Amino acid sequence: MSTTFDLDHHAAQLRGQRPQDILKTALTHFPGAALSFSGAEDVVLIDMACKSGLPFRVFTLDTGRLHAETYRFLERVRQHFQLDIELCFPQAQAVEALTRSKGLFSFFEDGHGECCGIRKVEPLRRHLQGYAAWITGQRRDQSPGTRAEVPEVQADLSFGSHARPLIKFNPLAGWSSSTVWDYIRAFELPYNELHERGFVSIGCEPCTRPVLPGQHEREGRWWWEEATKKECGLHIENLHPRPS
Ligand code: ADX
Ligand code: SF4
Repeated sequence: MSTTFDLDHHAAQLRGQRPQDILKTALTHFPGAALSFSGAEDVVLIDMACKSGLPFRVFTLDTGRLHAETYRFLERVRQHFQLDIELCFPQAQAVEALTRSKGLFSFFEDGHGECCGIRKVEPLRRHLQGYAAWITGQRRDQSPGTRAEVPEVQADLSFGSHARPLIKFNPLAGWSSSTVWDYIRAFELPYNELHERGFVSIGCEPCTRPVLPGQHEREGRWWWEEATKKECGLHIENLHPRPS
């Protein structure tokens, strides 16, 4: 990682700053940092990163359980921005062992932890090995139960460690969903066609459903589980916040 990056200083300085400025700090200190892509927020970040002129890389965790619409969206994003999106796949042996022993929908019986662990967390851990910093589209108002304290920048001790520090930037932490969508409309950015059918927060197909008017977006994710547990392991520190 950048030896000059003073986390405490930047955490204080970036609090409440514009996403563009947070992103600029991230990409200046960590050129080629990994931008994680899955949804509307991430397209906004890709657009801002392209406009910054600074180098960055984009990856997505292809769990094998995404909607067909999400795959089409991914391709539209690739073409719109003319960029590579690295697809990260789960370990075939682990998926085979899980589905052989428990079938394809075990998460409805014993929770999403095991399947997310195999299809998302392990591939993310492997991918982030090559990076000193990554960038996410998390927002504080995305999940009152788990994300209300998400900072603009933090030490990621889930995927990094004291021995191998990893910095996690959340440039959109302070934005609302409507600000994200104002940006998408203003710059005519591509979006997942599922948004036209009542989906707001979109993950894997079996674990995502549309929400009704007035329902919080997070209610469309893992709806059979308690609100306070709705983190799949990518952002597990939200369940046990540590000082940034
Ligand atoms: S999740 O942990 O509940 O699935 P959510 O869908 O809210 O996350 O997205 C928050 C951020 O996590 C995204 O903006 C993106 O940075 C990252 N993310 C979520 N899912 C993926 C994925 N499949 N691939 C890459 N990044 C992802
Ligand atoms: Fe498996 Fe559902 Fe997690 Fe996707 S969101 S990895 S299908 S439990």
